[in-house]
Amino acid sequence: MSIVADAKNGLFTLHTKNTTYQMKADSLGTLLHVYYGERTDDSDKSYVICMKDRGFSGNPYEVGKKSKEYSLDTLPQEYSCYGTGDYRISALKVQNMDGSLAAALRFKEYQVIRGKYTIQGLPAVYSEKEKADTLEVILEDPASKVEVHLLYGVLEENDIITRAVKIVNRGSDRIVLQKAASLNLDFINGEYEWITFYGRHVMERNLQREELGHGIHAIGSVRGTSSHQYNPFAIVCEKNTDEEKGKCYGFSFLYSGEFQMEAEKDQIDQTRLICGIHPDNFAWNLQPGEAFDTPEVMMTYSGAGIGMISRNLHRTIRKHICRGEWRDKRRPVLINNWEATYFDFSGEQLAKMAKKAAGLGLELFVLDDGWFGKRDDDNSGLGDWFPNEKKLGCTLKELADQITECGMQFGLWFEPEAVSEDSDLYRTHPEWAVVIPGRRPDLSRNQLILDFSRADVQDYMIERMSAIFEETPITYVKWDFNRSICDKYSMALDAQSQGEFSHRYVLGLYRVLESLTAKFPHILFEGCSGGGGRFDAGMLYYTPQIWCSDNSDAIARLSIQYGTSFGYPVSAMGAHVSAVPNHQTGRTTPFATRSCVAMAGTFGYELDITKLSEEEGEKIRQQISRFKKHYDLIQYGEYYRLQAPSDRQCTVWEMADPEGKEALVSAVFHHVEGNTAPVIVRVQGLREKACYQMHLYMEDLPEEAGKSFLTHLPYGYKEGERITGAALRQCGLVIPGAMQEFQAWQIHIAEVE
Ligand code: GLA
Repeated sequence: MSIVADAKNGLFTLHTKNTTYQMKADSLGTLLHVYYGERTDDSDKSYVICMKDRGFSGNPYEVGKKSKEYSLDTLPQEYSCYGTGDYRISALKVQNMDGSLAAALRFKEYQVIRGKYTIQGLPAVYSEKEKADTLEVILEDPASKVEVHLLYGVLEENDIITRAVKIVNRGSDRIVLQKAASLNLDFINGEYEWITFYGRHVMERNLQREELGHGIHAIGSVRGTSSHQYNPFAIVCEKNTDEEKGKCYGFSFLYSGEFQMEAEKDQIDQTRLICGIHPDNFAWNLQPGEAFDTPEVMMTYSGAGIGMISRNLHRTIRKHICRGEWRDKRRPVLINNWEATYFDFSGEQLAKMAKKAAGLGLELFVLDDGWFGKRDDDNSGLGDWFPNEKKLGCTLKELADQITECGMQFGLWFEPEAVSEDSDLYRTHPEWAVVIPGRRPDLSRNQLILDFSRADVQDYMIERMSAIFEETPITYVKWDFNRSICDKYSMALDAQSQGEFSHRYVLGLYRVLESLTAKFPHILFEGCSGGGGRFDAGMLYYTPQIWCSDNSDAIARLSIQYGTSFGYPVSAMGAHVSAVPNHQTGRTTPFATRSCVAMAGTFGYELDITKLSEEEGEKIRQQISRFKKHYDLIQYGEYYRLQAPSDRQCTVWEMADPEGKEALVSAVFHHVEGNTAPVIVRVQGLREKACYQMHLYMEDLPEEAGKSFLTHLPYGYKEGERITGAALRQCGLVIPGAMQEFQAWQIHIAEVE
């Protein structure tokens, strides 16, 4: 059992393989946070909590007359409340029926349960019963009888602890939750920085590292989705922590809607982290007897640098968040027609593309936007999920049959949550659109949002999509969402409940996804929101992969995928080889570079395959066969960031077999200069004593470089030479110099007897 509950002393200790977490209910009933970090014993460590009389930090009534030292304003807590003496950022803000904003929580009871808890209607980390434990600590506000159930899920092997909260109104009046965070974590001492990931459409998840100085630091989204602008994932680390050393913590929010992550360094240098649903658009009514479940946060700690945080999360997302058949099955190498045709295609043209693609070894043909309703541009048709047979020149089933007959699987694009004003669906059901009566809505891509908070809308979409899935042999769906949500209002909610809209919308989305994925387990769902606008661990519970960005330029993708890799595995990142000059940046990169970068994701193509030469076709064959050969290594290997895109010359990453038998190192020169310094990286995850041989994949080299280049591998080792794992880690691997602009290398390192 990974949970040790010492009821007599109110002490609860959670252990994972390498970490320990401790909390303590004190004599007043406050649940104090005691410790989270390197694995240690079960002994009471609350001696680190120092109490002192501090002016303007008051004392709870029960102790105030006796002592001025005990203050909620300075104590580290497991779940802080607004309004009753803690003036820092807090986890819970309750409005009572008398209008007061107050709650004060006291320990009531606890239980330890074998297996990981689940959350009704929300994504959550899951595990076999014998591999996870749950601690539930129940706190109560004695005045209002509001109960707060703190849930801790412990995945010992994965070094993961999850947090979620259930709030139950056991009082006799309605209350309004104005804020109900999923996580409160107080760091008692230490100087911290945090790493967050900001961005914009076609340039997502750029890394920002900031000192957590005094004051409140926050990221979040009020856009209805987790957003391109900030990702619901953060790392808190000590100064000087890098990939391989230092103490750090990772926090990933399993939620696809509006979120907030805040950190505050307080008056005595403690740091509090809060994560949960963004409070700006949140006011949840809780009638007597009702309960509210917060989404889940997963956390991990590493004493050996940030790389380990990423690998812990990757492993957990792959096996304990992603579900269904496609979790473990090899995903097909796909070709998508979007950048090849945009809206301008015919069925005949698509069939021709599919035929050529099948001949080159591609496995799945994805028909993107424009196959339904009146949809020849992005101004109309959304909501009318009926094939446009005139445009296709046949029924959708006939087109699908033609494609499957050439040996390819067939997939389709949908944007189920959107509706165009110029659509039959909108004309029939204007009340299903998200608009505020009496106001003109903000348009974005000239479209409105369908009110997914409504059960009738959810049911309609489940029924309509199911009908298409049943009529057509589909094995893949791209689930897109192409705008942010504002003008938040549901015609199905009364005025008092409008503050529930944003969260109800996400619950509705999850319900539709849950129902469709359960009903059609053979369909691989790929999430998308203008690329990476809803790239979060919550979506990955339903869609095991997400289109990483609408930017398909290999060089821009280096930083997008680098940023994404901190919180998410390669198997989750949709990545395609596209045409040059690139449609988003105008940049021309070698074919091999594009495939090397797309192989750091789910790997596919998005270009007009009918326009490629024989020679380019042959390259595609080789790329696919290389990808398939190293599939397990790429998708399930341990991921190491060896050199960041911020490096002067070259970005380098590695996937290593968990047992250290082989590794694939990929390097892309994003900047070339004359007479450059050598690039040497320390290869990780190999066996120290084992011997390895290197194989360099050659593709796209200028003619004159040719074969002779191989025999003159610069700086030392020759093809066929044996090098030990220890040497590769300590002395490093030499990356051959660039032979052309944006040169990419893939080096396979394999153990030899
Ligand atoms: C979004 C997606 C693209 C494509 C278009 C279609 O932008 O991210 O990949 O599907 O929509 O309209």
